[in-house]
Amino acid sequence: MGREQVFSCTVCGATQSKWSGRCESCGAWNTIVEEVPLATGPGKPLKRGSTLALTDLATAEAPPPRTEAGVAELDRVLGGGLVAASAILVGGDPGIGKSTLLLQAAARFARNGLKVIYVTGEESAGQVQMRAQRLGLTESPMKLAAHTNLRDILATLEAEQPQLAIIDSIQTMWLDTVESAPGSVSQVRAAAHELTSFAKRRGIAVVLVGHVTKEGAIAGPRVVEHMVDTVLYFEGDRGHQFRILRAVKNRFGPADEIGVFEMTGKGLVEVKNPSALFLSERGTPAPGSVVFAGIEGTRPILCEIQALVSPAAPGQTRRSVVGWDGGRLAMILAVLDARAGLSFAGLDVYLNVAGGLRITEPAADLAVAMALVSAQSQQALDSQTVVFGEISLSGALRPVSQTENRLKESQKLGFSTAILPTLAKRAAGSGLTLREKPDLATAVADQLGRT
Ligand code: TYD
Ligand code: MG
Repeated sequence: MGREQVFSCTVCGATQSKWSGRCESCGAWNTIVEEVPLATGPGKPLKRGSTLALTDLATAEAPPPRTEAGVAELDRVLGGGLVAASAILVGGDPGIGKSTLLLQAAARFARNGLKVIYVTGEESAGQVQMRAQRLGLTESPMKLAAHTNLRDILATLEAEQPQLAIIDSIQTMWLDTVESAPGSVSQVRAAAHELTSFAKRRGIAVVLVGHVTKEGAIAGPRVVEHMVDTVLYFEGDRGHQFRILRAVKNRFGPADEIGVFEMTGKGLVEVKNPSALFLSERGTPAPGSVVFAGIEGTRPILCEIQALVSPAAPGQTRRSVVGWDGGRLAMILAVLDARAGLSFAGLDVYLNVAGGLRITEPAADLAVAMALVSAQSQQALDSQTVVFGEISLSGALRPVSQTENRLKESQKLGFSTAILPTLAKRAAGSGLTLREKPDLATAVADQLGRT
């Protein structure tokens, strides 16, 4: 009576006061549902004299104890191991390998002495057992439960007192106090809230698995991202065997750290030297191919950037990007035109980061530009050369962070030359020939032999 109705979008989680066929926030159709608020009884009066315990900042708190899985790629993404009493969300497209990753990780943690419970709401216990058999994990002392009712799950966790609980997936869990269907915003939000607060209270680490929609949001509630301590995304291209676990938020470690895995017939195998893997598919140097010396989190990773330029059909030029930002590509094309006199008008441009990697660093600007120049001029870059640097709108090249790390990794992988922005001081410790360029025009002229 008298309470205001609230409607929310099952894709982006935005709320609005009226129902509509289309979400006002993300534009998705048929995704607005009424939110049923949690039943709240009349508030009990506070017990007299109950107070909050206050702590000052000077009291030294020991760093949270961590348990390592013994899988370096996973431990690094977690910020050095699993933290007790923390909540982790692992998101990713259906079928990308989340359940496989977590089953393998759970088995490793269990072998290292952690008490682990894996709750599957998506597959039957039999299906998970079969997968464990195929992955050779049947010796692991972890426990398995097939359940979707959160009340049962919490009771089990309460009784068993595990140190790690994996909930696969949060979209299949439901609370009987919430009226909407499993997978709806209200259910997912309520279930995630119950599980995360239980984790904090009981000192259990919980991992919530969440499916991601085409738009890239954890289906339904983005809000889950705010409730947890750590958000990891498991990404990759289904056509490739590489999978990347990326920390997009981490209260206990650096964000942007990545771990690289390979999906094989026997599950996920960690890739200790990703650069070698990303470059392994490279054939003879072709026009349009450039090796970019990038940094992901704290680690240098080399990868190949490929560009293809072809005449466009009249009136419809295409710009297609895989693994990089489309807006950034448009900017590089404009700067090439305005500052280096290289026009791509009337040409289709395709840009691809090989191996299914997704790059967000502006440091890739120069590598992208050189790939475009090389593709258009049909002149291949020397195969022993790496490229990195940020391009500003003025056409100037800006030095980027961790230059020395990038050079060191390039040298380790057998490269001999680097094209990079002019450095303020000499980069120490690399045996590479440095071809420092003050601006894009100079870099382009050198590549085209116009010096
Ligand atoms: P899965 O872990 O079920 O994905 P998610 O939980 O993210 O939906 O992974 C399913 C895919 O992984 C499936 O297409 C088959 C593939 N796969 C392998 O290639 N090798 C393996 O050993 C396993 C277990 C799965
Ligand atoms: Mg799964």
